[in-house]
Amino acid sequence: MQPSEFVRLIYPRAVAVVTSINSEGIANAAPYSWVCPVSFTPPMLLVGIQNRETRTVRNIRETKEFVVHVVTRDWEQTAIECEKKARDNEDKLAKIGLEKIKSEKVNVPSIKKSKIVMECRLSEILVPKNADHMLVIGEIVAAKTSEPKLEEIVMHLLGEKFVSPGEEYSIERKR
Ligand SMILES: Cc1cc2nc3c(=O)[nH]c(=O)nc-3n(C[C@H](O)[C@H](O)[C@H](O)COP(=O)(O)O)c2cc1C
Repeated sequence: MQPSEFVRLIYPRAVAVVTSINSEGIANAAPYSWVCPVSFTPPMLLVGIQNRETRTVRNIRETKEFVVHVVTRDWEQTAIECEKKARDNEDKLAKIGLEKIKSEKVNVPSIKKSKIVMECRLSEILVPKNADHMLVIGEIVAAKTSEPKLEEIVMHLLGEKFVSPGEEYSIERKR
């Protein structure tokens, strides 16, 4: 296989919807599956976002905050619809019909339906040399979960293929 196809070798990946606002407070949302922990202390994560000017990155640059929502089966269709483009002055959450609620620590609204929410303040945006994605790194300043069951989590394979995780089991770690 071509090394350029490697992304399908790192699978499945949890799907998360990232909300953000511009300086006028207009909200946006978009799904991402390149989401990865970066640090325990302080708690940090990264979102890999393509190097073109997405609304998400423009908003995060402007207001330095974002909220990451892990997607569960009960709102998967609307979550994926957030991929749609919306006009800069259009509230994508309202357009798609996802209800917002006030976040605890950041000005960016959270998605009411989401069972796993991580509020982030921008740490930095790294652009690896020659890469076509940038690493948007955020410090998690508030987090909440209603502990959804494992099989409720939506994970991306590739294109329109998704899976839900199956059985939980243990592997002994001899450290
Ligand atoms: C399941 C799924 C996963 C995606 N993962 C990523 C990703 O990890 N990185 C990325 O740059 N785009 C990803 N996309 C595409 C973005 O959602 C898309 O570029 C979106 O239009 C950006 O919206 P915005 O301009 O409103 O920020 C994904 C789309 C879907 C449906």
